[in-house]
Amino acid sequence: MTQAMQSTHGGEPLKIDNLVMVRGTKAVTEAIVLRVARGKITALMGANGAGKSSTVLGISGVIEPAFGEIWLDGRDIAGLEADEIRRLGIATVPEGHQVLRELTVRDNLRVAASDLSRGEQSTALDRTLALFPELKEKLAQPAGDLSGGQQQMVALAQALMVTPKFLVVDELSFGLAPTIVARLVPVIRSIAAQGIGVLLIEQFTHLALALADHVYVMSRGKVSYDGPPQKLRDDPDILHRAYFPVSDKEAVGLA
Ligand SMILES: Nc1ncnc2c1ncn2[C@@H]1O[C@H](COP(=O)(O)OP(=O)(O)OP(=O)(O)O)[C@@H](O)[C@H]1O
Ligand SMILES: [Mg+2]
Repeated sequence: MTQAMQSTHGGEPLKIDNLVMVRGTKAVTEAIVLRVARGKITALMGANGAGKSSTVLGISGVIEPAFGEIWLDGRDIAGLEADEIRRLGIATVPEGHQVLRELTVRDNLRVAASDLSRGEQSTALDRTLALFPELKEKLAQPAGDLSGGQQQMVALAQALMVTPKFLVVDELSFGLAPTIVARLVPVIRSIAAQGIGVLLIEQFTHLALALADHVYVMSRGKVSYDGPPQKLRDDPDILHRAYFPVSDKEAVGLA
């Protein structure tokens, strides 16, 4: 591959086409189509049980999609192992700040970068800690002793140690106080500004609408909105309908 082709590919969006995820025996997403641009923040919103996390598990390779394609740099990576997908450049922060509680913060970050040489690890550590200065003084502490917000920072920092092309964050704000969430907003912005494509999964609509360049809303396994955040801010009814869909009977009555 030529240098020029590589650099064009480096800027390609992550394309998710017709993704169907099955949990148990039930299809919980229906032909999901998403585009995640490099250097931008894309939000995926939706009510409880809409299928957001199932979509994330499919993208990250934790659960093999039943159908559909995930295009990264011109290659369909759907169904590859989670480790392989991470190596190819998609880092995922799963729901619920899952850090290695017994290990120190420094070791959490080292483990995440175990593919790198010692020298590369130390460069990656400096680069990552620049985004989270408050973690610098916690490096020797067990990650389990940190606050929820700081643990979420460790989880984000772990994902960033390997300089991913795309960062997928499932429920960034879950369980965190508003002041902590406010602290994470500029961090997410600077991650995107580095050229990383961020896919932010959020139930907390205010945060997603404030941060996102592009928004998808899922309801009951389908994408019910695909467009700019401004339209949702201007017309809250669109979101309301997606979060509280009327039943088919009511819809007929309304028509
Ligand atoms: N382990 C599982 N086994 C069977 N069904 C599951 C499992 N996990 C989730 N589901 C079902 O899959 C559907 C989608 O759930 P999913 O967790 O993807 O939604 P979500 O949008 O992430 O919701 P939340 O906002 O609560 O995180 C739901 O109907 C849920 O009950
Ligand atoms: Mg979820």
